[in-house]
Amino acid sequence: MLRLNFAAAVVMLMGGFGGPAAAQTSAPAMTAETKLEGARLYLQIHQVLTHPRCLNCHPKGDSPKQGNDRHIHSPPITRGPHDDGPLGVQCAACHQQANYAASGVPGASNWHLAPISMAWEDKTPGELCRALLDPRTNGKRDLKATVRHLTQDKLVAWGWEPGTDSDRRQREPVPIAKAEFNRIVNAWAKAGAACPD
Ligand code: HEC
Ligand code: HEC
Repeated sequence: MLRLNFAAAVVMLMGGFGGPAAAQTSAPAMTAETKLEGARLYLQIHQVLTHPRCLNCHPKGDSPKQGNDRHIHSPPITRGPHDDGPLGVQCAACHQQANYAASGVPGASNWHLAPISMAWEDKTPGELCRALLDPRTNGKRDLKATVRHLTQDKLVAWGWEPGTDSDRRQREPVPIAKAEFNRIVNAWAKAGAACPD
C-alpha cells in the first residue's frame, strides 16, 4: 500500500520534471525518490515535535505552556534572561530532577525553556524541518548532533515519561514508541535528511 503510493508519487514527480527527457537519466528520479523518502520520514518525526509535550517547552512567546490545550503556564512565569526563569524564580525551584507525583510538577535534569531561536509553534512541517537542520536556529548542531539530541537528550526523553499532572491525571506521552522514533530519526538522517517543501 505504502509502496504503491510512493511509486505513484515518484512517477508524478518525474512527470513534473518534464516527462521523457527526465525519465531517460536515473539521477533526477533518484533525487526525487530520496527527497520523498526523507519527507515521508520527517512527517512522522513531525508528529512528535509538534505534540504538546514538546511544544510546551518550545513556545514562540515569553512563557512556557501547559497541558494538551497548551494554555499559558500557571503560576505565571516568563523565560527570563537565560530561559530558566526570571531572576530569583528559577524553573528548578519547582521542577526537580524527576516527575513529582504528589504535586504533579513534571521534572527532568536541567529543566528549562528552549531559547526563542528554537520556537516551534506555528511552523509548517517544511519550516520546522529546516529550522531543525539550520545551525543558526538549532544551537549550532550538525546533523549528527541533532540526531543525538533527538534520540538521547533527557528533556526530549521526558516526552515519553511525562508523569501525572496536578489533577493526578496521566499526561499524554508523545505518539510513536521511543525505540521506533529513534529508528525513524536515524533512517531520516541516513536517507539524507530531506524536508517537505
Ligand atoms: C522542559 C523543556 C523541554 C521539553 C519538554 C522539550 N525540550 Fe527540546 N529543548 C529544550 C531546551 C532547553 C533546548 C536547548 C538545549 C540546547 O540547545 O542545548 C531544547 C532543544 C531541542 C532540540 C535541539 C535544537 C533544535 O531545534 O534542533 C531539539 C531537536 C529538541 N529540543 C527536541 C525536543 C523534542 C522532540 C521534545 C519532545 C519529545 C522536546 N524537545 C521537549 C527544552 C525542552
Ligand atoms: C512556582 C512553581 C513553578 C515554577 C517556578 C515553574 N513551573 Fe512549570 N509547572 C509548575 C506546575 C505546578 C506544573 C504542572 C501543572 C499541571 O500540569 O497540572 C508545571 C508544568 C510545566 C510544564 C507543562 C508540561 C506539559 O506538557 O503539560 C512546562 C513545560 C513547564 N512547567 C515549564 C516551566 C519552565 C520552563 C519554567 C521556568 C521558566 C517553569 N515551568 C517554572 C510549576 C512551576
